[in-house]
This record gives sequence, structure tokens and C-alpha cells, in this order.
Amino acid sequence: MSDLLVDSFGRVHNYVRISVTDRCNLGCQYCRPGETAGHPSKMDLLTFDEIAAIVSVLAEMGVTKVRITGGEPLLRPHLEDLVDRLSAIPGISRVGLTTNGMLLASKARALRQAGLTDMNISLDSLLPDRYAMITNGGDLSRVISGIEACFKAGFEMLKLNVVLMRGVNDDEIESFLRLTLDYPLQVRFIEYMPIGKQAEAWKAGYMALDGIMAQCADKGWNARRVEPADRMSGSSFCGTKDDSGPAKYYRISGAAGEFGLINPVSDHFCMACNRLRITANGSVKPCLYWNDEWDLKPFIGNNELLRQAIRRSLEAKPQRHEMIVQPGQKPAQHTMMRQMSQIGG
Ligand code: GTP
Ligand code: 5AD
Repeated sequence: MSDLLVDSFGRVHNYVRISVTDRCNLGCQYCRPGETAGHPSKMDLLTFDEIAAIVSVLAEMGVTKVRITGGEPLLRPHLEDLVDRLSAIPGISRVGLTTNGMLLASKARALRQAGLTDMNISLDSLLPDRYAMITNGGDLSRVISGIEACFKAGFEMLKLNVVLMRGVNDDEIESFLRLTLDYPLQVRFIEYMPIGKQAEAWKAGYMALDGIMAQCADKGWNARRVEPADRMSGSSFCGTKDDSGPAKYYRISGAAGEFGLINPVSDHFCMACNRLRITANGSVKPCLYWNDEWDLKPFIGNNELLRQAIRRSLEAKPQRHEMIVQPGQKPAQHTMMRQMSQIGG
């Protein structure tokens, strides 16, 4: 297919992340520090019709997987209608959602029935007070109810995202690993990235993920790497090889679940990048850490112009991002200065 989304470095793009709102009902310290729930949207949001139009064109260009992100995507009323629309687009085989779980308990069944295949939930502490502190007021019991509702609704596997921060939640690694022993969960530890306003706090909180394997060894747990190929051919655990994201997965012997390591800081995975991002107001962003965006809104309704704009964005995609700016050094002209909640992670 000549229309495939291949960039100047030969990377094939088959995965799109679409932010459906910049609003959030939490103020996580690594994402929207100091902010509270309920700020009004600062963006002219894409409608579901517009999102479906963009995804239809992307599907013709080889995209097979869509992930809905935010802000908090469940703040968009009737999100299940969007899931339903996207799952029906020819070529789209997986539709995922990344959520903080606050509104999940009442939504899990409708989302599943609408065709949602992959659910990722942010959960940075298993201690209620600490969870409230990290999220600026979040209620842990609501996330737990949301997780239970997902299992009841028929999701066989859930991913939990844990951003690890020194002195904040790094004493909970073992508790999170223990969860994988008993539950079909993929607990993904994520390195804290310096983004937007929290770049100073990042210096104190960042830690690489290398201590995690050592903790397994200390407990006498044999953790072995789970290769993507293990997940193919009918396993309900994961999708196909193509949609494995940036995490490297491990399983402790005999565990029901797995844990994953996402190392965007210590070991960037740009050469394997297969994703495009669409912002909540309809710009395509070829790299999370690159400021440049191409507005698609004016071209909705004209598929050839949409395709051209998408291709132009890919031609400009950098080989790799410059996440870490050294002291005294000016950020590169294109380095990302936006908040994560405006891009969708
Ligand atoms: P799936 O494979 O679809 O489950 O996707 P995922 O793991 O990418 O989805 P999720 O939204 O749960 O992402 C987890 C986190 O990984 C994001 O919120 C980011 O913190 C990080 N991440 C995901 N994609 C990228 C990327 O392209 N670059 C960087 N630097 N970090 C990413
Ligand atoms: N560092 C790492 N991950 C982040 N996220 C948001 N901000 C950051 C950051 N500074 C990711 C987390 C969360 C998802 C919604 O966004 O993975 O689970």
C-alpha cells in the first residue's frame, strides 16, 4: 500500500492516540501540578464526527489501533458512542482508553459493550492518603471500584500505569509487584518525564527503573522477560505483536499477571515509535516531545487534503526527541513545552 504511514526513518505508523479533552478531574503532581479538578476546556474540541472522519482516513493509511486519551477522557459525555463509532471503522482492530479511573465504575460495561478492547488505568499509590496527595484530592476507592467493574464487564486483562517518583511512591514497588501475583494485571512502572511546569520537581523525583529487578531478586522471585511473540495466537492476555507499546514485560514465575517497564528517560524508544498523536483540538503531533503540530480541522471533509497534512507531519517527525536539557543549555527550538494533559500522554 503506497499510502502507508512511513516516516523519513522508515518507521511505520499503525497506532494513533487521540486526546478527547484537555480537562481533568485530578491534578496529579507529575502531570498538572497544583491544578484542581473542573477547569473549563481551553480548547475548541473535536466532535465525535470529526474524530471518526480523521480516524477513517488514518485507517486507510494503515492505522489499526486507536487509543483514546485526555485529560480525563471519561469527562466527555457518552464516550461509549465514540468507541462504538471507532470500532466500526474498517481496519481498526483495537480501541483502547487511558483513564484515571475516577468515573470508571459506572462506565466500564457500556465501554466494553461498545467495543473497547484495551483499558489502561493510572494508579500511582495503593495507600488512600498518599493517592489523594499525589492526585490532589483523588479517591482511591473509586479507582478500585472501577477496576472491579472492568473485570465484571469482561475485560480479561487491565494495564495499570504507575509513575515512579523518588521519595513519593518508590517504597510501594513490592506492593505493586505483589498485585501481579494474584490478578490478571499488567502493572507498568513508568519513568517520571520532565514535562511542562513540573520540570523543576522532576529533578528531585526522577528515578530510573533499574531497582525493580533487584527487588524481585531480593524476594526470591524469578522474573522472566515475556516476549511479544508469547502474546500472539489467541492469547487473551494481549493483542498482537504489532500493538505492543513502549513497555518491556516480565512475569514472575507462576504469577497471574505481568509487570512492565517504560523507560522514556533512561532508554528512549524512539526508533521503535509507531505512533501519531491527535490533540483535543484536532492537530496531528508526530512526536510527544516535539512542539510542532499540523492543524487537521480545516481539511475535515476533504480526505485528500487530510492525507496530505498527515503525511507532511510525518515527513517532519524527528529521529528522536531531546527530553533532557542539560543545565545551562537552551532547549532545542522544537522541544515540547506543553503540559501532558494537553497532549494525552
Ligand atoms: P498501549 O501499548 O496501547 O497499552 O499503549 P501505552 O502504554 O503507550 O499507553 P498509555 O496511555 O497507558 O501510556 C503509558 C505512558 O507511557 C504514557 O502516558 C507515557 O507516560 C508513556 N508513553 C507512551 N507512549 C509514549 C511515547 O511515544 N513516548 C514517550 N516518551 N512516552 C510514552
Ligand atoms: N511522566 C511520566 N508519565 C506521565 N504521564 C503524565 N505525565 C507524566 C510524566 N510527567 C502519564 C502517566 C499517566 C498517563 C495518563 O500519563 O502514565 O498514567
